[in-house]
Amino acid sequence: MNATIDIARPADRLSDVRPSAIRAIFDRAVQIEKAGHAVIHFEIGRPDFDTPEVIKDATAKALADGLVHYGPNAGLPVLRAAISEYLQRSQGLEYSAEDEVLVTIGANEAVLLSILAFCGPGDEVVIPVPAWPAYEACARLAGATPVLLPLTLDTEYKVDPAALRGAITEKTRMVVLCTPHNPTGAVLDQALLEEIAEIVRGTNAIILSDEIYGELVYGGTRHLSPAAVADLKERTLIVGGFAKSWAMDGWRLGWLAGPRDLVRPALRVRQFTTTCPPTFPQIGGVAALNSADSEREEMRQEFESRRSAALEILAQQDIFSYAAPDGAFYLYLSFPETLGTAHELALKILEEQHVAVVPGTAFDIDGGSHSLRVSYACGIDDLKEGLRRIITAVSSQE
Ligand SMILES: Cc1ncc(COP(=O)(O)O)c(C=O)c1O
Repeated sequence: MNATIDIARPADRLSDVRPSAIRAIFDRAVQIEKAGHAVIHFEIGRPDFDTPEVIKDATAKALADGLVHYGPNAGLPVLRAAISEYLQRSQGLEYSAEDEVLVTIGANEAVLLSILAFCGPGDEVVIPVPAWPAYEACARLAGATPVLLPLTLDTEYKVDPAALRGAITEKTRMVVLCTPHNPTGAVLDQALLEEIAEIVRGTNAIILSDEIYGELVYGGTRHLSPAAVADLKERTLIVGGFAKSWAMDGWRLGWLAGPRDLVRPALRVRQFTTTCPPTFPQIGGVAALNSADSEREEMRQEFESRRSAALEILAQQDIFSYAAPDGAFYLYLSFPETLGTAHELALKILEEQHVAVVPGTAFDIDGGSHSLRVSYACGIDDLKEGLRRIITAVSSQE
């Protein structure tokens, strides 16, 4: 046999891309369910609601009307216009529907297109961690270098300006911000964003601002896009999407918005990768933005009630430390080292209590080893029961 033959050898750029740890827990939970046990799912980062009818109806009509062929590379003009108007309405931001908005295949594609368009070998992408794992994976796929910036409970998992200043070099091509934040629920306020603006001024850093949880804020917190602060608009690419706030995760619909000089290169990548987003679901996107405010608000209120219920239960224990989340639908819980690693504890909770949570290492390979993410995108009874079981599991181990 010829030792040099290895047909299945993946490209080098894949070698540092880790498989998703969220998936691993989910797969084990499915096995436990197959063995006949009910599992409470706190690991999944998607709403448990159905997509509102008004959105489905508009889409079904588009399909019946024959909107089944390729569309423009940038997305249907009617949806680009709806996104542009939405950003104007919600953040006071002006983007031309003509060439400053791209409809994407989920927010994930918006992240990938942006990173592929601007980052390559030798470029650094600053990623505050814990973080949704795709930023780092996309940076690695692009051949760029992720620079991981630790977020800590001391600052309620908000970017520490001094640490950000220290992380930026002349190689920094992109700084990722996610507000409201997965996995911690932290929301960046105006004062902090102004400090960030001051830090990146005069550098080559593009801000990749993931705002997919922008509508999911609680307790009177306001979501503010970094692009709406100081002079950040000129260097910011906004990533948004329908998955979380409109319960449309399976529709794979999102957007990218920014100055045309930043959006055009992303469109060039799109032309040769996915061509265009699927056409008929885009009509659902228009209905979501223009005709589903009350349905979206109802879901937000339900998340807010669950969050309050969860915080009430957590207030009665002192094993986990956390920052009360202002947005998204996650709780990021830190626990003492005596309870083992995040992976060990997540497995113990799953095997013994049949509750699936995500180990913090899925979001931060080093810093997350004593944290768990709990998603409250599940019914309130499951949420209360699951949290009680988690507390039982850790209390029995103390
Ligand atoms: C912060 C963040 N951005 C983007 C996404 C992906 O969104 P989409 O399903 O629209 O690709 C997720 C999904 O969990 C997320 O948590």
